[in-house]
Amino acid sequence: MSMAGLLTRANKVLINNVRRFPVVFTRATGSRVYDAEQKEYLDFLSGIAVQAVGHSHPRITAAIQQQAEKIIHVSNYFYLEEQIELAEKLATLSGLDRVFFCNSGAEANEAAIKLARKYGRQQLGGKYEIISAYDSFHGRTFGALAATGQPKYQESFRPLPAGFRYAPFNNLQAWEEAISERTCALLLELVQGEGGVNPISPDFLKGLAEICRQKQILLIFDEVQTGLGRTGKYFAWQHLGIKPDILTSAKALGEGVPIGAMLASEKIATAFQPGDHSTTVGGGGLAFSVGLEVLRIMEEENLPIRASHLGQELIALFQKWQNEIPIIKEVRGWGLLLALELSIPVQPIVLKCFERGLLINAVAPKAIRLLPALNIEQQDLEEGLRILKQVLMETAEE
Ligand SMILES: Cc1ncc(COP(=O)(O)O)c(C=O)c1O
Repeated sequence: MSMAGLLTRANKVLINNVRRFPVVFTRATGSRVYDAEQKEYLDFLSGIAVQAVGHSHPRITAAIQQQAEKIIHVSNYFYLEEQIELAEKLATLSGLDRVFFCNSGAEANEAAIKLARKYGRQQLGGKYEIISAYDSFHGRTFGALAATGQPKYQESFRPLPAGFRYAPFNNLQAWEEAISERTCALLLELVQGEGGVNPISPDFLKGLAEICRQKQILLIFDEVQTGLGRTGKYFAWQHLGIKPDILTSAKALGEGVPIGAMLASEKIATAFQPGDHSTTVGGGGLAFSVGLEVLRIMEEENLPIRASHLGQELIALFQKWQNEIPIIKEVRGWGLLLALELSIPVQPIVLKCFERGLLINAVAPKAIRLLPALNIEQQDLEEGLRILKQVLMETAEE
C-alpha cells in the first residue's frame, strides 16, 4: 500500500496523542531507516535513546529469536534464568544491590516512588514527600507525572497524587528551602533529557548529596535516558561519583522490546515485601535476553567509551560551527546526549532535515537534540552531520 494510503488509515484509527512525522517506516538497519516508499533516513534520534546499538542488530535479532523458541513468559510467580543473570549484571554495573523489572521508564519511576514512600513510612518516621526538578521528565503515568516538574504535561490531568514538590535544577539554595521534615527522597535526572538536555552541575549534586546524608533523605536518579552508556559511562552517576539509593533504567536496555528496571541498595530494597508492588509481565524473557545481549555488545565494543569520545568530538565540531553559523547559541550535553540551542525556533529545521533524510527532534522550542546510536558508523555520522550543517547554514542565511 502507498504511504499516503497508510497515513490516511493511521489518521482515522490512531489516537492523536503525539505530533507524528508524516511517514511510515517499514524497515531499519544500523543507523538507517527506510520508509514505505523506500526513502532512506539517517537516524540521529535512535527511537529517543532506545536503539543504542542501532536498528536490527544481528545479535539482538538472534537473541530474540533464540529466546522466543526457548521461553517467553511464565508470570512473576516464577523465575527465569535470563532475569537472574540480567539482574546480576545490572547490579554490578550500577553499584546497587537489587532489581525490580517492569515494562517502561515511567513504570520504573512509579516503583522507585513507591519504594521511597514505603521506606519513608517504615524507616524515616513517616516521611513521604518527593522533590524533583523543574524541567524534569519522569514519565506519563500518574506518579511519574506528578514528579515531572513541567506544568504543560500536568495541567489537563489534575488532581495529581499529593506529596510532590519541585525546585529549580542546579539551584542548591532553592532545594535547601524546598526540603522539609516531610521529605523522604529527591528524584533527579543527571542530564535532563526531555527538559532540553541540561546537565547537572557537580557542585549542586554534591551539595544535595550532603543534605541527603545529613537529613536521611534518599537520592533517586532517573537514568532512563542517560543510562547504559549514553553519556559515556554505563550510568551517568559514575561521572560524578555520587551513588544513588535508587536508580531507574529503561530505553536502551530493551532496544525497543519493552522493559524497565528499578535498582536499589539492599537496605532500601528490603522495604518492599511480597504483595507491595508487581506487574504481570515485568520485562519477560525476550526483554531479558535482549538486555543481556545489549550489555555484552556494549562491553565487547567499549560503547560507553566510544560515546564519550564521539561526544567530545561532536561538541568540538559544533563549537567550530558556531563561528560559521551564528544562529547556534550553545552546544551542550554529555556523551551522545547532545543539544544545539539556537537563537530561533527549531521546528522548521527539524522538518527540513526530515525531508532531506535526517531524523532529529526539537527537545525545546529552540533546541535540537541529537541521540545517535552509540555504535553509529563514521560514514553515517558524517552524512547526517553534512545534512544538519547544510540545513543550519541555509536557515541562518534566510
Ligand atoms: C528521564 C526519563 N524518565 C522517564 C521516562 C519515561 O519513560 P517511558 O517513556 O519508557 O515510560 C523518559 C522518557 O523519555 C525519560 O526520558
